[in-house]
Amino acid sequence: MTSVSFPAGFRFGAATAAYQIEGAAAEDGRGPSIWDDFCRVPGKVLNGDTGDVAVDHYHRYREDVALMRDLGLHAYRFSVSWPRVQPTGSGKPNAAGLDFYRRLADELLAAGIEPWPTLYHWDLPSPLEDAGGWPERDTALRFAEYAAAVHDALGDRVRHWTTVNEPWCAAFLGYASGEHAPGRREPAAALDAAHHLMLGHGLAVAAMREARPDNRFGAAVNLYAVSAATPDPADLDAARRIDGMQNRFFLDPLLRGRYPDDVLDDLAGFGFDPDAEDMAVIAQPLDQLGINYYTRHTVSGLPGAATQAASSPFSAHSPWVGSADVRFVPAGRPVTDMGWEIDEVGLREVLTRVHRDYPGVPLYITENGAGYDEDAGPDGTVHDTGRVRYIEAHLRACRDAIGDGVPLAGYFVWSLLDNFEWAWGYSKRFGLVRVDYATQRRTPKDSARWYAGVIGRGGV
Ligand code: FCB
Repeated sequence: MTSVSFPAGFRFGAATAAYQIEGAAAEDGRGPSIWDDFCRVPGKVLNGDTGDVAVDHYHRYREDVALMRDLGLHAYRFSVSWPRVQPTGSGKPNAAGLDFYRRLADELLAAGIEPWPTLYHWDLPSPLEDAGGWPERDTALRFAEYAAAVHDALGDRVRHWTTVNEPWCAAFLGYASGEHAPGRREPAAALDAAHHLMLGHGLAVAAMREARPDNRFGAAVNLYAVSAATPDPADLDAARRIDGMQNRFFLDPLLRGRYPDDVLDDLAGFGFDPDAEDMAVIAQPLDQLGINYYTRHTVSGLPGAATQAASSPFSAHSPWVGSADVRFVPAGRPVTDMGWEIDEVGLREVLTRVHRDYPGVPLYITENGAGYDEDAGPDGTVHDTGRVRYIEAHLRACRDAIGDGVPLAGYFVWSLLDNFEWAWGYSKRFGLVRVDYATQRRTPKDSARWYAGVIGRGGV
């Protein structure tokens, strides 16, 4: 294969999230989050795993930053744990919590790595869920206060800010299918949750930008390429619906200040009636849009179509509010151990589509990677050729998109480290670096060495 190089200034990074790596769940004043609670409900997380210890990053962050420096990462995307900063979800910030993120940011900067915090990667403080959670408007207001507090502490040393991660998952896996925390199965509430996640984003951006207009603000959405299984009108309509709920339901409000009309029609009957005045708040100008991309959805509206692997081991209920009868069908591509089809062409498609339909925003791939149930050799080594191939193919797709004129400015591998993969517990590994969960020993996999070479050469 021919080698390709990325434009100068393109940022190569890796990503993680607080609940998945930090552990130290009850230390230094951290309060409980919905994931702490959810993990304790039998049958919600595979093997009863929890993030209590995770990969102990809270105590090992220096070692982890040294690993990042060895990889040559330009940037590191991590998330800030809301219940570490505000143990009850509101009020005066916990100094010890903020201090952890200050130390982490400083350690990164000293290593020449840009800190890229995400303010919400799914760990809502439990008291806010007790008060109704994201379906309540007040949660958006609380989020903006929390965001302003973190930004006030770190805005002098952190330039790139991501508000919410994958509001689709937080809303629809959390409140419709119940596969994720808080595990509610209330489709109408899930729509309100999605709206308030975006409202929280908008309020947070407005507050942070007022304090430091020179910082860069955005959100991270999980977008998919979506295809109809066949040209049958029922399949084409299924593709329109799923693209609507997965992609446009978020892109249109964030970037155009309105919900798509066809999606609102699909949702008639769920009482979804967002406040018109919220739309301008949600559509704050963005300095960057983070796109998390993993796979393509191939869908059918025909009864009897075969269905494909589910998004969690416990997904008996549909997250697809208004389209629960749409079937996700296998298209015959190779899959990772998540059951997700490998389709780098879809990444180029998503990037060119966002650039075409929502122009003018610098884009970053804030997550992309491959999960496997992999074993290590006795010395901890992992020859993860599947992951190398996956990332290489997707990087080539990114380069193609840049060639198409897409303003893509960076790429973050999910994930730096093996970690707690939500409902799958520790059974799926996405890391460039192997973690032995019994000893917490870190060992770079073949993919880590390979990625370091990519960064060093500025291409594949
Ligand atoms: C994304 C999440 C991330 C990780 C990857 C595999 O949906 O943002 O935390 O679990 O999937």
